[in-house]
Amino acid sequence: MANRGHSSNLLLLATNLVLSLSSLVLLGGSITLEDNFHDIQVSSLFPATSCTSSLLHPNTNTNTEVDVERSSLKVLPRHGPCSPLASPKVKPPTPDQILNRDELRVNSIVARISGQKPGPSTLEDSKADLPAKPGSTVGTGNYVVTVGLGTPKKDLTLIFDTGSDLTWTQCQPCARYCYKQQDPTFDPSLSTSYTNISCSSAACSQLVSATGSTPGCSVSTCVYGIQYGDSSYSVGFFGSEKLSLTTTDSFNNFLFGCGQNNRGLFGGAAGLLGLGRDKLSIVEQTASKYGKYFSYCLPPSDSSTGHLTFGKGSSSVAQFTPLKTISQGASFYGISILGISVGGKKLPIPVSVFSNAEGIIDSGTVITRLPPTAYNALRSEFQQLMTKYPKAPALSILDTCYDFTKYPTVTIPKVGFWLGGGAYLDLDSSGILYAASMSQVCLAFAGNSDDNEVLIFGNVQQKKYEVVYDLVGGRLGFQANGCA
Ligand SMILES: *[C@@H]1O[C@H](CO)[C@@H](O)[C@H](O)[C@H]1NC(C)=O
Repeated sequence: MANRGHSSNLLLLATNLVLSLSSLVLLGGSITLEDNFHDIQVSSLFPATSCTSSLLHPNTNTNTEVDVERSSLKVLPRHGPCSPLASPKVKPPTPDQILNRDELRVNSIVARISGQKPGPSTLEDSKADLPAKPGSTVGTGNYVVTVGLGTPKKDLTLIFDTGSDLTWTQCQPCARYCYKQQDPTFDPSLSTSYTNISCSSAACSQLVSATGSTPGCSVSTCVYGIQYGDSSYSVGFFGSEKLSLTTTDSFNNFLFGCGQNNRGLFGGAAGLLGLGRDKLSIVEQTASKYGKYFSYCLPPSDSSTGHLTFGKGSSSVAQFTPLKTISQGASFYGISILGISVGGKKLPIPVSVFSNAEGIIDSGTVITRLPPTAYNALRSEFQQLMTKYPKAPALSILDTCYDFTKYPTVTIPKVGFWLGGGAYLDLDSSGILYAASMSQVCLAFAGNSDDNEVLIFGNVQQKKYEVVYDLVGGRLGFQANGCA
């Protein structure tokens, strides 16, 4: 007995010594444990049952005396309690379905950037069962905004996408097909500001680069066709309309697609808002007012809201990195990632691993895709710091999952990205994990199939950051806690 007591005292002493030594070491390196880890309430990984709205009012102009031209729209998650598209008749996709569709989007981005061209698509040859071809990139973006179109103005809820350029909405008379949408379908014949764009106009020929498809011609009206990676598509008349972003900011002669044949995973949205870099994108078409400057904040969960702001405000931005161009994909916003830190430690990934692959930032891709060499290093460091939690089966493309059933709170390592120009992006705690259920919460990153494939910085990792696109300044900005 005495011996046992003695040895446990010794053990205690030894433990104390180790503890004080480790805190000394940590203090010596002027870092504390808390700085490198997030304590997360596991329930916070799931949306609440009701929507918590940010302070911003939808579609009100946030101009102040000092701000020049600036307009904010509310960004809403497409699924969950904040979604304007939620309907008891439509079941939201499962996490598995969302991730599988995400893979289709990524495949089409990869195909586009590696130079594969989609086939032509016209009003005549579009059928319900078009084969999946590498076309433009979405169908499945996860956030929506509401804009006004026409005179009198009709509100339309559109999927928000920085990975494509053409803005389109389903239009009456839906000559071929319109899928079900939440808003009444836009009817150009009831608007005094609608005009058809003629086949011979310069705008019509701009569709080639904006959509990846050669436009068609019906009587003398220009016909666009755009096909997305998951084989969703929209085909219709190319028109111009009055676009109202807020009650005070509107644009005459905004070029858009008036869709007559639309199919795919648009889930009740009336169409798509193209925020890419090509000539026909809304960013270019509103350049005279907003100077090709916009920003957004994606909400941390499906039960909260974010915003999309056009124009430069007086808000300060902490981190900037050069905006790069992508040779094969003029629509995409290029980003240069130079390194990754996990739990405060910079991973020993050779810089060449990042420089050999093009990198883009995309609002519509859910999960960040990394060169496999980088992903393997991230995964192994993350796993080492998470050994106390029981593992769970893989979830679609996510291979590092945990069972948090017995843990109301968990401590996870911080994950940060080193960007070109010296910026460091310390991901929000909502940007590291992707939760299917309490028993299956996964590291929200995936590896590409080879190191040369395009790196994609996805929307989970952008959560709660104000992401600034300053096209004239040639830079991307990041400001933490941007949704407030
Ligand atoms: C636009 O062009 C199409 C095809 O020629 C035609 O059916 C439609 O009526 C035109 N709409 C307007 C408003 O001119």
